[in-house]
Amino acid sequence: MKVLVTGGAGYIGSHTTLGLLEDGHDVIVFDNLANSSVEAVRRVEELAGKKVDFREGNLLDADATDMVFAECDIDAVIHFAGLKAVGESVEKPLMYYRNNVVGTLNLLDSMEKAGVRHLVFSSSATVYGAAEHMPLPESLPLDATNPYGRTKEQIEDILSDLSEADPRWSITLLRYFNPVGAHESGQIGEDPQGRPNNLVPFVAQVAVGRRDKVVVFGNDYPTADGTGVRDYIHVMDLAAGHLAALRYMWKKTGTFRWNLGTGRGSSVLEVIEAFSEAAGRSIPYEFAPRRPGDAARSYADASAALTHLGWSAQRSLAEMCEDHWRWQSSNPSGFAREN
Ligand code: NAD
Ligand code: UFG
Repeated sequence: MKVLVTGGAGYIGSHTTLGLLEDGHDVIVFDNLANSSVEAVRRVEELAGKKVDFREGNLLDADATDMVFAECDIDAVIHFAGLKAVGESVEKPLMYYRNNVVGTLNLLDSMEKAGVRHLVFSSSATVYGAAEHMPLPESLPLDATNPYGRTKEQIEDILSDLSEADPRWSITLLRYFNPVGAHESGQIGEDPQGRPNNLVPFVAQVAVGRRDKVVVFGNDYPTADGTGVRDYIHVMDLAAGHLAALRYMWKKTGTFRWNLGTGRGSSVLEVIEAFSEAAGRSIPYEFAPRRPGDAARSYADASAALTHLGWSAQRSLAEMCEDHWRWQSSNPSGFAREN
């Protein structure tokens, strides 16, 4: 199959691209490198021993997006491209709605013109908002609480409306929980620009000596140790979930929604402990007030993906930390800066 991967130079996109290549597919990556490095694509090629058709471009450029479909005989699209920082989305909502929603509309227009109607979309557990029903099933009403999350919710609505209107479409909405870890080679991984917003990249930078200590946001949550609980999932398990989704939807039409999580929650302190074990060093931390907008707990009901896709996450929190550490310690300042 020839698969277009938008955002394929990014964290989850690069790992999924590797999985696709290893599974025998041809991959075209379309990415404007707004939050990534072409070095990630180069390393994916090296790991797979196979070329990627890399095209630098922006989904907001409708002509450039059309051109990819005109030039390549694409069978299916996995759509990762988007901006993802919650705090930034609160400060710059128009930038987020334009990039994520308008970018997706352009992509859908190009797909329509080319007659390509298989799409996997990167949604997020953030669409469940402050829901307290744990574990979170796909059937909950969507209730995102910030502009980033609302772009995901709006795109889910657009895609559902589209497949309702035209039954030839086959659309899968994958709601990721908290992706962490890296490919076991340590050659590709997450490379956040500036101060990481997310826990594991921050912990990793403390472990490698780039930052002094982890700031734990809140120790007064109604959880076992008082710190926030999340469903961390290894990025390679997530990549495998995309391949399973693609296989499942290939001969079907309609809209499918799956949580991709482990179904298990880990607290901030458990993550720090597991990372410290993986890195073989102690990781200093201090408690600070809760981060506004954070839920006490969030973990998936992952049973539907198992039943329908035959997919479940295989890797433990210890493996997530070991693999994340291998990437971080062999590339202490990320991709581009290592060249
Ligand atoms: P990432 O930032 O590493 O990757 C996104 C890629 O999209 C980047 O390479 C970026 O340059 C590219 N991009 C952004 N806007 C573009 C545009 N207009 N045109 C072309 N390329 C563009 O992020 P990621 O962690 O790999 O996330 C991938 C997707 O998964 C995103 O849609 C994100 O919202 C979603 N998601 C991520 C998480 C997470 O915690 N990482 C959780 C849930 C959902
Ligand atoms: N945390 C800290 N210190 C930090 C960073 C985070 O204590 O420096 C805590 C948070 O309070 C939370 C947990 O660690 O309890 C996880 O926080 P993350 O920022 O890593 O992840 P979130 O669950 O808040 O959000 C992430 C993405 C969202 C996405 C969501 C679900 O940032 O975009 O996962 O996929 F929607």
